Amino acid sequence: MSERVKLAAHTAAKYDQGHLDRFLKPYHKAESDFLARDILSLDMGNINKTYNSIIKAGKSEDADFLLEPPEVMVKYEVSEAELRELSDTGSKFIAEGRFAAVTMAGGQGTRLGHDGPKGTFVLPLKEPRSLFQIQCEGLKRVGDMAGNQIPWFIMTSRGNHEATVDFFRENSYFGYDKNLVRFFSQNEVPVVDLNGKLLVRDNCIVRAPDGNGGIFAALASSGNLEIMERSGVEKVFVCGIDNALIRMADPVFLGYAIRNGKQLTSKSVLKRSFDEKAGVFVRRNGKPYYIEYTEIPEDKAAATDRNGNLLFGDIGIVAYVYDTALLKNLADKPLPYHSAIKKIPFCMPDGTLIEPDKPNAVKFESFIFDSFDYVDDIAVMRADRSEEFAPIKNRTGEDSPEVLAGRSLL
Ligand code: UTP
Repeated sequence: MSERVKLAAHTAAKYDQGHLDRFLKPYHKAESDFLARDILSLDMGNINKTYNSIIKAGKSEDADFLLEPPEVMVKYEVSEAELRELSDTGSKFIAEGRFAAVTMAGGQGTRLGHDGPKGTFVLPLKEPRSLFQIQCEGLKRVGDMAGNQIPWFIMTSRGNHEATVDFFRENSYFGYDKNLVRFFSQNEVPVVDLNGKLLVRDNCIVRAPDGNGGIFAALASSGNLEIMERSGVEKVFVCGIDNALIRMADPVFLGYAIRNGKQLTSKSVLKRSFDEKAGVFVRRNGKPYYIEYTEIPEDKAAATDRNGNLLFGDIGIVAYVYDTALLKNLADKPLPYHSAIKKIPFCMPDGTLIEPDKPNAVKFESFIFDSFDYVDDIAVMRADRSEEFAPIKNRTGEDSPEVLAGRSLL
């Protein structure tokens, strides 16, 4: 047994991960050495601390907090003239080369269960298209209108990076200028089983992408933030990959972000009913915050204004405009981890691959909306749900591709 393997086994045991010893011994020397190197690269103390603080301790809630609605502009209630004005402001900004777009496509899409990056999933529309193609065409349309194509940064993760890049190459970037498209990978964090034990697969510790909150560190470490700054980009549209009705780089949304002058503007849609299981934008003790449906007191969730509209009804649709300066500021800010229990394949010590049929592991993810903690205020633009929000999360049923079967897009 090499010194490295001995040290790895010793370190694992010290941090209550002694089961890894069984993975180190049966292999050939080179394989053991490979796994040992991986084990020694981990900050085991931190992994245990994260697991204990999230899973064992549960959430410690500040029971007494002040909730207020955020500043909201309702896109579908403003006049045609105002919409045009906002759109012109946004288009001018795009024409001046001050805007870029980032798609966060690093998620594993475990609920959809598609074999490949979620963006490559082809929706059963009247004219079938993948989620990436939809985004590409939307972005191109806005660029054409403004007379200037928008630089597009696509965040991937280690597990889907190559397949994402290949997909764009094979489809000739769907007609987008490939010099304007840049791919970058987010970081990964180790996954543990339900007892906090590290999992092994193919001689490596199992890891998963660190959540969409990983965007800030990844944009900076990949050098893309610097590229944006150097090319004069002042505001950045940030979105997820899975909203089939996304309005990419919506000039009205951008115009509103410019007009309200805040460093961060979010797009929302209204809850269907007060008890819909979705988080909403609020001000919590005077600070912007995204409150989960499990956290909001029921009387607040059901509260309405004098017109009968929900006071706290603005669901996030993972569409934001960030100031580039804010993205820079967030690059080294720690965001808390949340846990998600998922089905994650792993190996037994004899190398047998196990594909679990029920959730078996804890993923640690940081969320983009925890960045709100670092800004004084945000503004929200509420869009029409039926026009701008159709998330593709599940294989069938609600929030699945079935919802869009046979439909035409814009
Ligand atoms: P979800 O929270 O729906 O996660 O991501 P997911 O991984 O795509 O799907 P499930 O939960 O495993 O079924 C919301 C958005 O954030 C991106 C996703 O790609 C999606 O656009 N995301 C999520 C990342 O870019 N990286 C991550 O680590 C997680």
